[in-house]
Amino acid sequence: MTFTFLIVRISFIRTLSLLSSIICILLFFTISVIAGDSHTDKKYSYDDWSTPEYCGSSCHVDIYQQWRQSMMSQSYTHHWDEIEYFNLAIPHAEKDEVVAEVKEGCNGCHAPMSFLVGDVPPPRPEENSRANEGVHCDFCHTITGFEGDIPFNFNYVVDPKGPKLGPRLDPVSPSHKTMKSDFLASGDFCGICHNEKDPYGIWVKSTHLEWKEGPYYDQGVKCQDCHMTYGSMVTASMGPKYEDARLHLFHGGHDPGKVRGVVELRINPDIREAEPGEDVRFTVALFNQKTGHKFPTGSVEDRILWLHVEAIDNNGNTYHLPVDKKGFEGEEYTIGADVLAYQDMGIALNDPNFEGVQRDGIPIGDRIFRMPYFDPQGRMTIQQWNTKTLGVDYRIGPRETKMETFTFTVPDDAVPGEMKITATLNYQLLVKPIAEFLNVPSEESGIMEVNNHSTFIEVLP
Ligand code: HEC
Ligand code: HEC
Ligand code: HEC
Ligand code: HEC
Repeated sequence: MTFTFLIVRISFIRTLSLLSSIICILLFFTISVIAGDSHTDKKYSYDDWSTPEYCGSSCHVDIYQQWRQSMMSQSYTHHWDEIEYFNLAIPHAEKDEVVAEVKEGCNGCHAPMSFLVGDVPPPRPEENSRANEGVHCDFCHTITGFEGDIPFNFNYVVDPKGPKLGPRLDPVSPSHKTMKSDFLASGDFCGICHNEKDPYGIWVKSTHLEWKEGPYYDQGVKCQDCHMTYGSMVTASMGPKYEDARLHLFHGGHDPGKVRGVVELRINPDIREAEPGEDVRFTVALFNQKTGHKFPTGSVEDRILWLHVEAIDNNGNTYHLPVDKKGFEGEEYTIGADVLAYQDMGIALNDPNFEGVQRDGIPIGDRIFRMPYFDPQGRMTIQQWNTKTLGVDYRIGPRETKMETFTFTVPDDAVPGEMKITATLNYQLLVKPIAEFLNVPSEESGIMEVNNHSTFIEVLP
């Protein structure tokens, strides 16, 4: 993940090769010093950063409590992260040279201090080391920029001994220097960790890139405007109350309230009355009104969003409606099926004949909004570091409306009278069969209902 930087450095040196060796050595020395802030040199110690408790216990109390409740504070300790890193990523990295770099690379975003200090792998969360601080106050507030043109793969430039960077010019703190930074206010700042390219050169996380090509970027709406909204708050105990204080909510896919209503649903039939044996075609419109990027985004390899449609007749008989196929390439991955996948977990688990687990764990025939990831053997994977190709991108873009149809033959045993047809959109952070197989606590695969809508038809005798 640091290759680009090395190549730049090497080619730079080559262009200088005609100059005398003395100048060359001098220049190289200067470049090394300038690059001293880069993470390629392990010259940091944990003591360079203050702990979040130091920042938050008496001064930034509300900000601290908000951050504590966000995923950002659990980026290293969260159970699923621990399981994936220690049980899959590390053993895999030790066996497969192509992905060897992830052993340290995962920490570049999840335990950034440990990465810079060279504490790899960091102690397990139960050992309570400083890796547990995750993405914390002093880490974010001393990032000065990023290397290259695109923020991705923890290409931050850090200055832990410098002033604390923030949105205002005026604050004077008894504990540290402060400085205004436009960079922290930008979406690029978030992109440093919210874009990820894997060892095969595939964009396996692209929240920031999705946002840039969507409508919100053009209109000046940034990540911070939805995940760190402005509120009225005392940001430091001795300071004033600001009306436009940046709340450190960082609420996302783990907050059912944030997920609720992300997509609005409407379902309608093409005819209102039908006899048994007659076809009724239902159309569902799904409008993404809330996300600034695609939905799902981020850990797309784990996430699943699906549309379930059911009819109930006057007697309470329930019928499941499978989605109509549209016929696009790769569509089979977007319809719930009873097939096995994720065989590449066998590499880390020392089981080359591992048959895999169920791919979706949802009703067969439901439409899934997702983008499948494939390993070098073409098998579907949740190991984003082992992704060689991406499949069809059937997620819902910001402000996009997707249309689905369900053709339903009214069953012969349907009772005459009113029939209610309900469309429900569900979201899950982690595919259920994977969660069960790896013993990930069940809350990670709980079903979050995003929205639902119902319509009615009359079944004729
Ligand atoms: C130093 C790396 C880093 C930076 C910079 C960073 N993040 Fe994160 N962020 C993470 C990691 C790692 C996680 C995943 C935590 C977990 O679940 O393990 C995360 C999680 C989140 C989540 C929670 C997602 C969920 O699943 O609920 C949100 C929201 C978020 N970040 C928004 C932002 C925004 C907005 C910015 C910019 C202001 C930002 N992040 C900057 C590393 C970073
Ligand atoms: C993921 C990165 C990240 C983390 C972690 C983080 N912050 Fe921030 N913080 C920001 C950003 C971004 C802003 C707003 C920048 C802007 O809008 O100009 C900000 C703003 C602030 C401000 C100024 C608020 C205002 O409106 O005046 C303070 C004070 C602050 N943070 C303290 C903290 C403390 C204390 C913690 C830990 C408990 C913390 N931050 C954790 C990114 C972070
Ligand atoms: C217009 C508002 C809006 C903007 C702008 C926005 N987001 Fe989000 N974001 C949301 C909503 C709503 C969700 C919850 C639904 C979801 O999980 O996708 C979300 C979810 C997330 C998640 C969790 C994804 C998951 O399911 O695990 C992350 C991470 C995230 N956003 C980061 C970012 C970053 C980084 C940016 C800027 C590059 C950004 N967001 C811009 C509204 C926004
Ligand atoms: C470029 C930064 C980056 C790198 C490198 C990275 N991650 Fe992440 N990771 C994130 C962000 C940001 C999120 C949150 C995305 C979201 O909420 O959808 C995340 C989410 C996750 C999640 C899901 C967390 C949850 O609660 O649902 C797991 C597990 C995870 N990462 C493990 C790993 C492992 C293992 C590696 C190394 C192979 C790794 N990550 C490398 C940035 C990174």
